Amino acid sequence: MKTIYTKMTEEQIDPEQIRLAGEILRGGGLVAFPTETVYGLGGDAFNPESSRKIYAAKGRPSDNPLIVHICRLEDMERVAVRISDEAWKLARAFWPGPLTMILHKCPDLPAETTGGLDTVAVRFPSNKIAQALIGAGGGFIAAPSANRSGRPSPTLARYCREDLDGRVEMIIDGGQVGLGLESTIIDLTEKEPAILRPGFVTWEDLQEVLGKVNAGSLAAAVTDGAPKAPGMKYRHYAPKGRLTIVEGMPENRAAYINDRLRRCREEGIRTGVICTDETRDLYVADLVKSAGSRESEESVARELFRILREFDDEGAEEIYAESFDSSGIGRAVMNRLLKAAGQRIVHV
Ligand code: TXA
Ligand code: MG
Repeated sequence: MKTIYTKMTEEQIDPEQIRLAGEILRGGGLVAFPTETVYGLGGDAFNPESSRKIYAAKGRPSDNPLIVHICRLEDMERVAVRISDEAWKLARAFWPGPLTMILHKCPDLPAETTGGLDTVAVRFPSNKIAQALIGAGGGFIAAPSANRSGRPSPTLARYCREDLDGRVEMIIDGGQVGLGLESTIIDLTEKEPAILRPGFVTWEDLQEVLGKVNAGSLAAAVTDGAPKAPGMKYRHYAPKGRLTIVEGMPENRAAYINDRLRRCREEGIRTGVICTDETRDLYVADLVKSAGSRESEESVARELFRILREFDDEGAEEIYAESFDSSGIGRAVMNRLLKAAGQRIVHV
């Protein structure tokens, strides 16, 4: 299949291209598109064939359910039933925006879309290109992140092309995404609301609206047991090199990492470090990548997945990452880093 490429900005949406993309979606095809979090790979949520195609294009196990994207708050009622007051409160507080809610599924939503579960993940993104596309495609777009399964979520259209060229009908380039980590997922189908995946809508934000919220585990990626978000059981974002997170005082951290780097150099192993502007001069790795200033957790979140992909492109074999504070948005950063590192963390 030849993939169509098109480019636009939120300020200047191209109505002709959006109409074409909508036609593709309504005809059962797939379109990769920008959201405020990461790029998504969209298909018609009410067409089981579209969902099957999404799994095939991503190389994703079909028991891992998709998020249904909507572009009007009230459309929540077309995909979910028995919607609680809490869900409406959260929708009013954070939509459109980077929050996904797990609700009880409408019976007529195909089982293919929800991986056979009787619950459904629903999200109303704030990106204007995404909203226009969802509307043009019929209003209900199932979309996982637009990466091949196991790779970091794409924060640039170039990475969608790398992973999906020839596998999807269309890719819409809307530039670098604003946030860079996937949406917060909160489960509202159990007694107590629980965070299944941390993101930009933080535990603190959610508690402010709901009161008690279960923060979930920071790691949330363990392979044993039955995780509530099926995606959590798969290894994620894993770079080709071996990634280790190092936690401790800045000086101890740098001393430990540099010692390791020296040993790698002796053995001819290509090394990388993920650090911040404040510490970048401390390291002697082949590839030293700063995710921005520690003062700005937003910057670290936005750059992380790009850095992981660059290490692959540049052949890093042994990678060390500084750890980050796990409060606020830092919790989402650490969650993704831990997954990328296969939970490998050392304390120095
Ligand atoms: O920011 C985002 O959420 C992006 C953009 C494209 O919107 N999408 C995204 O989708 O990250 P995906 O498929 O990569 O991650 C969705 C996660 C998976 O871990 C999946 O298992 C979980 O949501 N999920 C989906 N439906 C669920 C359900 N009914 N119950 C529990 N977990 C669910
Ligand atoms: Mg994903």
